[in-house]
Amino acid sequence: MALQGKGFVDEMRMVAMKLHTREQAREGEKEVKGPEERSISKWNPTVDGYLRFLVESKSVYDALEGIVDKPDFPCYAELRNTGLERSERLGKDLEWFKGQGYGIPGPSGPGVNYACYIQELSEKDFPAFLCHFYNFYFAHTAGGRIIGKKVAGKILNNKDLEFYKWDGELKQMLQNLRDKINKITLGWTMEEKNHCLEETERSFKYSGDILRLILS
Ligand code: HEM
Repeated sequence: MALQGKGFVDEMRMVAMKLHTREQAREGEKEVKGPEERSISKWNPTVDGYLRFLVESKSVYDALEGIVDKPDFPCYAELRNTGLERSERLGKDLEWFKGQGYGIPGPSGPGVNYACYIQELSEKDFPAFLCHFYNFYFAHTAGGRIIGKKVAGKILNNKDLEFYKWDGELKQMLQNLRDKINKITLGWTMEEKNHCLEETERSFKYSGDILRLILS
């Protein structure tokens, strides 16, 4: 249930943290089911799997970044140019892999499914869309960065990918986005807030399907 009197992002975060496992994050409460829900130090990643993860992740960022750029949806304008955009950087990383001789798989898996779902929501359900927008960007800057470091250490000779670099102060960019989301949601009804929070579980499910690729 949405609470009154707090910034809404705090509530979004609280719901998200509970959906982590204890092995993923201290605040996690969920029981470990899939291999991607185990501690990353127990992961056995493969370069092919990681490449598929990057390709599928790019499909989702392409969708998110394309949607907020569309001029016909004025409510998305606030979510433009956050500095957190990842599509272009992922494109550069894929070029780097290509230069190293790796074949880049086409996007055809869970990222494409997720992108379609997000596209659908963006046209008819802004509260649910915002839940996915928040979780996808914030997950990447939290657990995502831990994953990047550990995986690079295990299989990429500690290569620092562009995916894990931001122009400017990341902490400040995250705070700016939190402030924007708090502002956007200020006028929301309790129903809209609850609907947004309820979407979190689906966001974990879709992202989990993409994360699991790293271990495939
Ligand atoms: C935050 C780990 C997957 C969404 C965190 C934090 C950790 C973490 C350690 C706490 C950061 C902090 O406050 O200091 C992980 C790991 C994951 C994972 C290891 C998988 C291997 C996910 C997924 C989602 C997600 C699948 C949702 C799609 C979030 C969100 C936060 C968070 C929204 C809050 C970020 C913030 O407040 O700045 N995660 N996470 N995480 N995670 Fe995850």
